[in-house]
Amino acid sequence: MNHIQFDYSKALGFITEGEILNLQQKINDNYRAIYNKSGKGNDFLGWVDLPSKTENALLDKIEKTAATLRSKSEVCVVTGIGGSYLGARAVIEALSSPFNLLNKKKGNPVVLYAGHNISEDYLTELLQVLNEKEYSLIVISKSGTTTEPALAFRLLRSHLENKYGEKEAQSRIVAITDKAKGALKQLATEKGYETFVVPDDVGGRYSVLTPVGLLPIAVAGHDVRKLISGAKEMESFVASESSIKTNPVSAYAAVRNVLYNNGKVVEITVNYEPGLLFFTEWWKQLYGESEGKENKGIFPAGVSNTTDLHSMGQYIQEGLRNIFETVISVEKPENTLQVPADNDNLDKLNYLAGKRIHEVNQMAELGTTIAHVDGGVPNLRITIPEINEFVLGQLIYFYEMACAVSGYILDVNPFDQPGVEAYKRNMFALLGKPGFEAETEAIRKRIEG
Ligand code: PA5
Repeated sequence: MNHIQFDYSKALGFITEGEILNLQQKINDNYRAIYNKSGKGNDFLGWVDLPSKTENALLDKIEKTAATLRSKSEVCVVTGIGGSYLGARAVIEALSSPFNLLNKKKGNPVVLYAGHNISEDYLTELLQVLNEKEYSLIVISKSGTTTEPALAFRLLRSHLENKYGEKEAQSRIVAITDKAKGALKQLATEKGYETFVVPDDVGGRYSVLTPVGLLPIAVAGHDVRKLISGAKEMESFVASESSIKTNPVSAYAAVRNVLYNNGKVVEITVNYEPGLLFFTEWWKQLYGESEGKENKGIFPAGVSNTTDLHSMGQYIQEGLRNIFETVISVEKPENTLQVPADNDNLDKLNYLAGKRIHEVNQMAELGTTIAHVDGGVPNLRITIPEINEFVLGQLIYFYEMACAVSGYILDVNPFDQPGVEAYKRNMFALLGKPGFEAETEAIRKRIEG
């Protein structure tokens, strides 16, 4: 059963139903290309049937490893960048208490992240925290050669070995990487780390439902079987139904492309639940790396409301009219909290007394939607019943498939990212990496003028 509702009625003042439905044939062709593996980037379609192909034996191994790490750790450091950490972080932050660091009662290790920046201060302060904590490491790199996580892992590994000795450190490290190649694979084999494999045909940003996402999520104490079963239900729903009228994946992919072709080149994903902040970050990477190429593509942005109504809200209401919004709306919070009555009513809030905080949030969402549509911003709405593993599994698959279908509408390869190499070449040249001698000379000349 599909729990995700997609409503584009508040975009229809800007584009027509006819323009959207005109894409049906294209969408059918795109599904065919995805399922038959005949489209661009077809070596990287392993995510399409990943949920239904995930074996119990893999989930057993993930749960067993997670239990071992949990038993040893107050903190687990997930080391990775881009698709090698954002999916895990999206799910963990959506499902965990925002005050997890203070919430010792729950007994779950706090997941911290490294390898997603090259900040000396960040890494120094992380090591200082780890001086005081029992911890373990999950290092994730599909290629096994990415500089940021490799650098962080070198520091963390040495810290862990100094703290626990080499043997115990070995039992606290798990590597997730290619089955055969890359420096991380070699290191893991030589050091005897437990390893999990990133499938060859699943790219980083589509890898959250592989051990890349599943192991950190399990270590954080969440149910990866429910996550997979949500994704599996969405996988079978999407495979059985392609109509824009009934399949939210088709509708979302179609509507965003029609908006793009009508000059709405920025999509802002909006949440009203702070736990979804990193879900938006994951979505930004998925869509930005998949579609932004060949001088084309919607620019993916994000806001967290109502926080950002007091900052970006001004721009969205009255700035350049090249944006549209997609709200992820959560019907039911996990908790119940009412506004209390106050005899003095000095804050003039008694008109809200007895109402749920969530009702206030929902009215903020509705009021904002109406205001933004009035201000010229088309509004799309994805409604989910609540935030739990099953629903997040559905939402992940929804976004992955919509991204592929949408990328094919745009006629790009949604599974490569050639543009991310440019900064790396320059950085390697500037740092004098062996093999980059010619680039080093060229870039030095350029800088020196
Ligand atoms: O989506 C992608 O492919 C990228 O964002 C990668 O996940 C990211 O560059 C990290 O790569 P790796 O896992 O090889 O270290």
